[in-house]
Amino acid sequence: MDKNELAKEVAQRRTFAIISHPDAGKTTITEQLLLFGGVIREAGTVKGKKSGHFAKSDWMEIEKQRGISVTSSVLQFDYHGKRINILDTPGHEDFSEDTYRTLMAVDAAVMVIDSAKGIEAQTKKLFKVVKKRGIPIFTFMNKLDRDGREPLDLIAELEELLGIEGYAMNWPIGSGKVLEGLYDRKNHRIERYRPATEDQRFAALDADGKLPADDPIAKESTYRAALDDIELLDDAGNQFSEEKILRGDQTPVFFGSALTNFGVETFLDSFVDMAPEPSAKKTVGGDEVAPTTDRFSGFVFKIQANMNPAHRDRIAFVRIVSGAFERGMDVTLNRTGKTIRLSNSTEFMADSRETVNTAVAGDIVGLYDTGNFQIGDTIYAGKGAVEFEPLPQFTPELFMRVTAKNVMKQKSFHKGMQQLVQEGAVQLYRTYTTNEYILGAVGQLQFEVFKFRMLNEYNSEVEMTTIGSRTARWIDPEQLDEKMSSSRNLLVKDIHDQPLFLFENAFAMRWFQDKYPDVKLTAKL
Ligand code: G4P
Repeated sequence: MDKNELAKEVAQRRTFAIISHPDAGKTTITEQLLLFGGVIREAGTVKGKKSGHFAKSDWMEIEKQRGISVTSSVLQFDYHGKRINILDTPGHEDFSEDTYRTLMAVDAAVMVIDSAKGIEAQTKKLFKVVKKRGIPIFTFMNKLDRDGREPLDLIAELEELLGIEGYAMNWPIGSGKVLEGLYDRKNHRIERYRPATEDQRFAALDADGKLPADDPIAKESTYRAALDDIELLDDAGNQFSEEKILRGDQTPVFFGSALTNFGVETFLDSFVDMAPEPSAKKTVGGDEVAPTTDRFSGFVFKIQANMNPAHRDRIAFVRIVSGAFERGMDVTLNRTGKTIRLSNSTEFMADSRETVNTAVAGDIVGLYDTGNFQIGDTIYAGKGAVEFEPLPQFTPELFMRVTAKNVMKQKSFHKGMQQLVQEGAVQLYRTYTTNEYILGAVGQLQFEVFKFRMLNEYNSEVEMTTIGSRTARWIDPEQLDEKMSSSRNLLVKDIHDQPLFLFENAFAMRWFQDKYPDVKLTAKL
């Protein structure tokens, strides 16, 4: 691919993830986006919670058993001259580090909020990770077809709970049973909820931002209330700032209803317009690799094992940072210096796996892996080593003691343990003096996947006893005195032999800090 062609292709990419609390409507909106992208023809094909659609795919057994998506997948479609990559993140309560890492591979995020519930726990956690990256965050306030909270409250909550400015791109006229439409500030029009014909879907506003007096919506009290709100927003609300949006300091807010496909197209059009192209990425040396650099480079952000149990395959998901990927190309794996031929690649669509031949910066490719790759690995083509900054580590919140059930099978236990930990499936700790294994995760599901894979891939049955939810804090080894450890603040070490405490709760941590005021405790991301 020549330089001009590469630049043109890269400029078309828009790569993002949708973050939300379970049930806010992430799957429903994803389906609507896929409909607009022409990938699927009817809603309900991506996830049929109740229809058992998973039986059709060959994902992990555990997924089938629980009827949820364990790991993120990638959806790709073309829309208005742009190639959209949506990196899906598990929509289940039991999410995992995979979800966090997926957010390291996107250039923007869409936050879906249930307008009746406002900002919920999981949204808050995921938001924090995205915010730290300083990438644009677009907000979709969903379920407008139901009675929800006051729109002004929802906007205020963004600032109060998340510390991000909200700028309403459009404003609901009524909600639930009396939903009439959206006042579109950006496009200077009203979008009707129930237009008699498609031609009547949009109504233009006059120079004063008003509908003609004889328009049926103009007669509604909800319309007048919306105008009052808009006036308030114009006078006292946040000023629209593209700069702030690109830095992630302001979020454009779109109202709508994914289920009734209301406001979704307006959202998508604005998103495609405003979302950034693939960004450059820093190397450990501090250089930036621009996406249009003609040399291919990328990093592994996720490894998914056993997508097809019959083949025992693992897929390493690579975010392309620069250049173009071509099937059969040779790349160097920076960590080992080994050359690898990338001949087997797959790309993930909503319903099928299709072999990808070319992909450019911004795209995600799934590579069949026979155990070469680890999470965070950099791969590059050509001469001159490239190593991207390591992926951040996330502070685990749940802990388990783990032992091999069969003492005769220690070898496979240790092998499986080592490989799965390297892969980043779970975090491994050992008690400080007795060296017992303790696993840490951000979601319960990670333990279940770990147990399942130990048995299925390493033939090792593991015994796990829960320690429960703990707050992990690292301590400078210089300041450590083993006497500081107690059952309320268990002392362990991580895989780099760094000491940390697992505090039973916030109270135990406060007690510790009061007792040892000079000791500095640190959390990871
Ligand atoms: P998730 O992926 O974020 O977990 O949410 P999902 O899209 O599965 O939506 C959760 C529930 O909310 C679903 O209902 C879905 O139909 C509903 N929903 C999504 N968007 C809207 C909306 O704009 N308005 C209304 N009223 N409902 C919405 P469910 O009862 O769990 O499943 P289903 O049997 O209806 O599919």
